[in-house]
Amino acid sequence: MTRHFLNLSDAGGDAIAAMIADAIDRKAARKSWPKGQADADAPLAGHTLAMIFEKNSTRTRVSFDMAIRQLGGTSLILDGATSQLGRGETVADTARVLSRMCDAIMIRTDDHAKIEEMAHHASVPVINGLTDLSHPCQIVADLLTVVEHGVALPGSQWAWLGDGNNVLHSIVEAAGLMKFDVRIAVPEGYDPDPSFEAEARARGAQIIHSRDPQAAVAGADIVVTDTWISMGQSHAEEKLAAMMPYQVTPELMALARPTAKFLHCLPAHRGEEVVEAVIDGPQSVIWDEAENRIHAQKSVLLWALGRLG
Ligand code: CP
Ligand code: NVA
Repeated sequence: MTRHFLNLSDAGGDAIAAMIADAIDRKAARKSWPKGQADADAPLAGHTLAMIFEKNSTRTRVSFDMAIRQLGGTSLILDGATSQLGRGETVADTARVLSRMCDAIMIRTDDHAKIEEMAHHASVPVINGLTDLSHPCQIVADLLTVVEHGVALPGSQWAWLGDGNNVLHSIVEAAGLMKFDVRIAVPEGYDPDPSFEAEARARGAQIIHSRDPQAAVAGADIVVTDTWISMGQSHAEEKLAAMMPYQVTPELMALARPTAKFLHCLPAHRGEEVVEAVIDGPQSVIWDEAENRIHAQKSVLLWALGRLG
């Protein structure tokens, strides 16, 4: 069976735990190495990752490139403007061709149905580098960051403030798999897709909704937010106004546990979803979170290619 990674559930909780453990070990083993040098075992030597970007990216693009290099392989990038995808070649035919030439495909796109179609027609692993629905690779890095900072995942309390978006969907999915709870404070009209919550609840996670950011953050171990305007959405004044009470401020952070950590997948819009005193403050772990994209993406690649879990 080809191991696609379209959502966290494709791997499951045990494999995600194995990914986190492997990422911690590989990160520790690399400490003093040049960033582009392969790990001693070079487990993916000779492998090529094709990366397709139909949306902008800094972290996903660089972290996957560095991840495959550190595993001994190489990557290539296709974008909408310069590949035949941009001229109407189908996702199915692109998947068939790339499967003959490359060992894995990572794609960032808009409609989640496109990545499902790609996985259906690919005979090599397809990895979700973000769709409008979900961002599972980001959340593997977030889980790694939380564990590294001493928070045990089972039973931990996460508070999400702001938009009910793709990143939140994957956090909720992770809650079910890794057994933590999420309190979601999102303004009316911007709630997340209920299907992820139903699945997480069925797996035993508590997913609590509130329109009250203070109640959501009270006693939380992790406070997390993301841009109010995701890629592909128009910049609506009405939405920004609705989101303003959910801005992460020092006053809100003071309600969380004193040891609470602040996460943000980046890019951030300082002064919108979070103020500088928080994102640059002592509880923020965003630079570890960003670096961990490399270490987490290595684990995702190793799992997808059958070397882990
Ligand atoms: N967090 C994240 O996915 O960043 P990029 O959009 O820069 O890839
Ligand atoms: N929710 C954001 C995440 C960016 C990494 C977006 O989809 O644009």
